[in-house]
Amino acid sequence: MDDRGPCQKIEFSLNGQNVRIEPQTGERLSASLRDRLHAKDIKIGCDAGDCGACTILLDGHPVCSCLTMAQQAQHRRIETLSGLLQHDPKAKQLAKSFHDCGAAQCGICTPGMMVSALALLRRHHQSLDRQMVEEALAGVLCRCTGYQKITQAVLLASDEEKEEFAKPTTDIEGKKRTSPSTNGHITEIGQSVPRLDGEAKISGTEVYGADMVYPDWFSVLVIRSPYPRAGFELGDLEDFLHHNDGIEAVLTARDIPGENRFGVIPDFIDQPVFAETETRFRGEAIAAIVGRANIVSNFDIDLFPVTWKPLDAVQGFGSALGIQAQLVHAYLTDNEMCHGIVQRGDPEGAIERAEMIAEGEFQTSFVEHAYIEPEAGCARIKDGRLEIFSGTQAPVMNQESLARILAMDISDIRIVPAAVGGGFGSKLDLSVQPFLALATLKSGRPVQLVYSRTESMQSTTKRHPAQIKMRIGAMSDGKIAGLTYDGTFDTGAYASWGPTVVNRVPVHASGPYFVRDYRAKTRAVYTHCPPAGAFRGFGVPQSTIAQETLFEDLALSLNMDRLEFRIKNALKNGESTVCGQVFQRGVGIRDCLQSLAPAWREANRQVSQFNDGAIAAGLSLRHGTGVAGGWYGCGNTSLPNPSTIKAGITSAGTVVLHQGAVDIGQGSNTIIAQIFATAFGISIDQVSLVSGDTDTTPDAGKTSASRQTFVTGNAAKICGESLRLQVMRHCNLSPEAMIKPLPNGTLLIQERSDEFVLELHQMPVNEDGYVLFAEESYDPPTKPLDENGQGIPYAQYGFAAQMCEVEVDIQLGTVRVLQFTAAHDVGKAINPLLVEGQIEGGIAQGLGMALMEEYVPGRTENLHDYLVPTIGDVPPVRSIIVEVADDCGPFGAKGLGEHALIPTAPSILNAIRNACGARLTHIPATPSRVLEAIHALRHD
Ligand code: FES
Repeated sequence: MDDRGPCQKIEFSLNGQNVRIEPQTGERLSASLRDRLHAKDIKIGCDAGDCGACTILLDGHPVCSCLTMAQQAQHRRIETLSGLLQHDPKAKQLAKSFHDCGAAQCGICTPGMMVSALALLRRHHQSLDRQMVEEALAGVLCRCTGYQKITQAVLLASDEEKEEFAKPTTDIEGKKRTSPSTNGHITEIGQSVPRLDGEAKISGTEVYGADMVYPDWFSVLVIRSPYPRAGFELGDLEDFLHHNDGIEAVLTARDIPGENRFGVIPDFIDQPVFAETETRFRGEAIAAIVGRANIVSNFDIDLFPVTWKPLDAVQGFGSALGIQAQLVHAYLTDNEMCHGIVQRGDPEGAIERAEMIAEGEFQTSFVEHAYIEPEAGCARIKDGRLEIFSGTQAPVMNQESLARILAMDISDIRIVPAAVGGGFGSKLDLSVQPFLALATLKSGRPVQLVYSRTESMQSTTKRHPAQIKMRIGAMSDGKIAGLTYDGTFDTGAYASWGPTVVNRVPVHASGPYFVRDYRAKTRAVYTHCPPAGAFRGFGVPQSTIAQETLFEDLALSLNMDRLEFRIKNALKNGESTVCGQVFQRGVGIRDCLQSLAPAWREANRQVSQFNDGAIAAGLSLRHGTGVAGGWYGCGNTSLPNPSTIKAGITSAGTVVLHQGAVDIGQGSNTIIAQIFATAFGISIDQVSLVSGDTDTTPDAGKTSASRQTFVTGNAAKICGESLRLQVMRHCNLSPEAMIKPLPNGTLLIQERSDEFVLELHQMPVNEDGYVLFAEESYDPPTKPLDENGQGIPYAQYGFAAQMCEVEVDIQLGTVRVLQFTAAHDVGKAINPLLVEGQIEGGIAQGLGMALMEEYVPGRTENLHDYLVPTIGDVPPVRSIIVEVADDCGPFGAKGLGEHALIPTAPSILNAIRNACGARLTHIPATPSRVLEAIHALRHD
């Protein structure tokens, strides 16, 4: 709430109750509802009407409450999701559809989506179609789902369409819950169990970082650099405090008791919490003010005592490299941060001996994660310990980093992860946490900090821009002969995950194909740009664009079918990867590519028919098809990567699973519980879940690199088996016996007619309150890479192949994606519904990367200048789930999160080329770049 002077009292109806408030002049209705009336089911994503997360019904019409002034509510009727769920049967039906369809992933957009959908359902009593849903939801952004399941849920809630749209969209039907199998052992594997945390998301009761905020807590405001590079001097801070009533503390680098730096990779921890004398990117923090919320939230940043001296900045690859380049960090001799290599054989010789050579140079842009939830959280001191509540993908890593910054013992810091409103890699890094910690320690009061949309976009990590040179040679039969790759990645001002990108890309730059003679070199360079970090794929999506474009060149030059060309080169069991690793089982790329063949043939037939008609009619529209493959090694590259899971049984018979793998919407809470329940031998309904909290769950590692299903899943499986073994030791039945927790503090163990009753309430209880207890870890069996990048970087890879159809307007340069078919080898689909959700969401993000997303500091720092796909931009997606079991995966399962995005952009670019001949090498393929490529064809 602000302090701009009171206006008159207003009255309105909120969810059927008359309420009266006294808002400040110009107060947003969203703020009134959330802060004055505690309507936390309204979510704030942008405060600018771009994301639609705050949508409410005003006299029955959907509006963005952030664009509505509080005074406009006078004598009006306001409905929010929580009220609608209480009073409107259609809302309850819609909630059920959202739950059953898996339409909420992170859930931050869900209230806005459901409220908008309800307005549609109320308006139209006849059946709905896809277009009507898309029009109604056009103003609400979702960054997770790809909109498919949301559309499906709305159509399902519309009774008349129920039959048509209840059909599963995968080739593996989403199976209903099963009874125990014939041998009596329950399995939850392969079941489309609705997510365990779904109820909270679809009721608007999920608690994100900004929701745990109370009016009497202090607020924090971070002062940031308005320049890409600047020297600065702070003024008299004592005097500033003296003259600003309500501001209780100012934080600067001098207030940091430990090390003023953070990062994620040992030896590359280089980012200051507060810059000390010079800032290195626009949005870098130099100070923070702490005080009463109404004062801090209205503080005019121009009044902060600082003198800036703008300096020449290194921006872009050209100015970062070469002996004349300005140094981003004075302690280094050049701007190259680190480099990586994988090489084998004689690639140059092999390419020279090849019968066809393709080569090219490619450039990609900064891409913003654009999760709908800006970073937020709160902190307090409790019982002498620091507690931080905020969204994160890496609670233990947060704890370790804060211990270093604060010079505190790690055991004195508790991280309680809030629900994460989208992460995609960026919420691995620290953001609000050090400011919160320092503010509560200095002020002695609980504090809160919620980033604005612009602040979130300015200061958090991005996808690395890449500049790639690549050459590939092929023989006349289409077999790849050799490949060279040279990639430079802009890591911005600080390292973040740059070293990971540089190490991962050379392992993956071949794509999932057999390449005997190979060299891939990478380097990351510092610039005065925002730090580039982890973003779904860690550099692999960028390199796949180059590789799959050159594969297209070769297939076309050799006059081969483009899908057949890829099948011919697909890696097989028993063949060596470019790192010399050989999998005897589990290589599923060929299966993925082959499963696309029927759709590929049909799409090509339809495209040629359409284009013949368009040309004959003189239309400017052209259709095209594109295909691309992808792979991704699950987990850290050649580094230890353990996860630990613990579980126990109480004397009352409750089976408790402590799983600390943060669920950022991908579904780890559900998947890990399915795996544990199956290994222990009970139904998932009988598992009580304790989710991430550094005090109550062991370290399950980071939610990144598609590792949770694989690594934490294995830990959960071993833990479940271990607990089962303990139960079986108390009875004389075989390991196949069935376990039934009973409500009276007993376990019934049955095998055919034999029964054993374990009297839990008579057993001793351990310090955690359990009578039986197991804690188990799993670390993937990898080996370090040698100086040529040879070794075992990952214990498993997942594989993918995607194809799409696009429509290009050759006069305007616009591209519309019409259809996607995506085949993903997930080893074993633990939960097909969640697998589909990952595929659909990944494709939507890949589509954005291909066609529209380009972060430019100072120009695209909000969600109207930075475009992400809306519901109308994302086409129908048909998922084909391929199951080629992995030897290391739990029940054969492989990771999936990153894989879903990797082939998307190159398949779209290849489809554009198929439609109109334009070969795009600078991404995103905006209309002007498409037109430029079309015009270049005419001049060739
Ligand atoms: Fe829509 Fe996450 S589920 S933004």
